[in-house]
Amino acid sequence: MSTVILVTGGSGLVGQAIKHVIENEPVGSRFGKKENETWIFASSSEGDLRDPAQTRKLFDKYKPTHVIHLAALVGGLFRNMKYKLTFFRENMVINDNVLHAAYETKAQKVISCLSTCVFPDKVEYPLDENKIHLGLPHDSNFGYAHSKRMVDIQNHAYKEEFGCNFTSAIPTNVFGPYDNYDLEDAHVIPALIHKCYLAKKNNTPFVVAGSGKPLRQFIYSRDLAKLFIWQLREYDDVEPVILSVGEDEEVSIKEVADAIVEAMDFKGNYTFDTSRADGQFRKPASNKKLLSLIGGFEFTPFKPALAESVKWFLDNYDTARTGIKKQ
Ligand SMILES: NC(=O)c1ccc[n+]([C@@H]2O[C@H](COP(=O)([O-])OP(=O)(O)OC[C@H]3O[C@@H](n4cnc5c(N)ncnc54)[C@H](OP(=O)(O)O)[C@@H]3O)[C@@H](O)[C@H]2O)c1
Repeated sequence: MSTVILVTGGSGLVGQAIKHVIENEPVGSRFGKKENETWIFASSSEGDLRDPAQTRKLFDKYKPTHVIHLAALVGGLFRNMKYKLTFFRENMVINDNVLHAAYETKAQKVISCLSTCVFPDKVEYPLDENKIHLGLPHDSNFGYAHSKRMVDIQNHAYKEEFGCNFTSAIPTNVFGPYDNYDLEDAHVIPALIHKCYLAKKNNTPFVVAGSGKPLRQFIYSRDLAKLFIWQLREYDDVEPVILSVGEDEEVSIKEVADAIVEAMDFKGNYTFDTSRADGQFRKPASNKKLLSLIGGFEFTPFKPALAESVKWFLDNYDTARTGIKKQ
């Protein structure tokens, strides 16, 4: 039977990583393309998913049997704090349109993408799949976090009322090619890559905000892509799965910056601005559920993954999302 997989947000960091894996793993292998599959990577230019009619048109055009739903209004801390209602409404509407179009067009399965920021602010660590709704998310991004939490509620309700096979994934911090390097809005790794690049180009110091001590779990986008493909093919339960490296693979911000300095071959002045806030020291998430289900999985070690990401940025600077107008 032929399978059509629609990836919403197909032009973004995670969507492009799935495309890379599907196009580069051997055909028929665990993460490679199957003979009967057609993969569609949709960007917003194919349809604005905030609009129910455009969403339905996209579904009618491709008639997906399966959906990996990544499209979202995403942004850095500053935008999340400033535009809480916008983040809440736009993501609620996008998710509602996609899930309902999938239900109406009888898609067999949908995996939506949550984020570890959906978890309660005050919670016992490590985070796990059972703790999503145990308290309020952090105030800084409560619009985005609540809209993402609602996907889990919708998935359960679609299953109970209509028997739909809808589920979700919860990645930790993602990095890799096609990231957003706009310094106004970027996550920590793409922001530091861009800052180091500018320091090298302009012969200025590379200054990292904070002490460099906080620890985070970072997942390489191409590893995450394989985990999405696994979840699509091999996991059929409504409950979410945290897609992450293990708690023992946390990396400090200093280790991130050191690896960027090395990959960028930056020889200039490199310091930490300890007058800037550090944020939470660590917020580990457990990948026990994932590992118990997937069997063996090899995560790419952090340094080579980071080096590949830096190389991609340097090779694609002219087209990358840097927020800088280029000639
Ligand atoms: N990056 C992370 O560290 C991280 C961590 C946890 C979870 N996530 C989740 O992972 C998913 C993918 O994130 P990402 O990092 O790949 O984001 P990204 O690179 O910014 O990509 C976002 C994607 O969503 C699409 N999109 C946004 N608004 C849309 C709209 N109104 N209609 C149609 N498409 C729209 C964009 O399309 P265009 O570019 O064509 O406009 C783009 O393809 C999101 O759900 C995010 O919440 C990300």
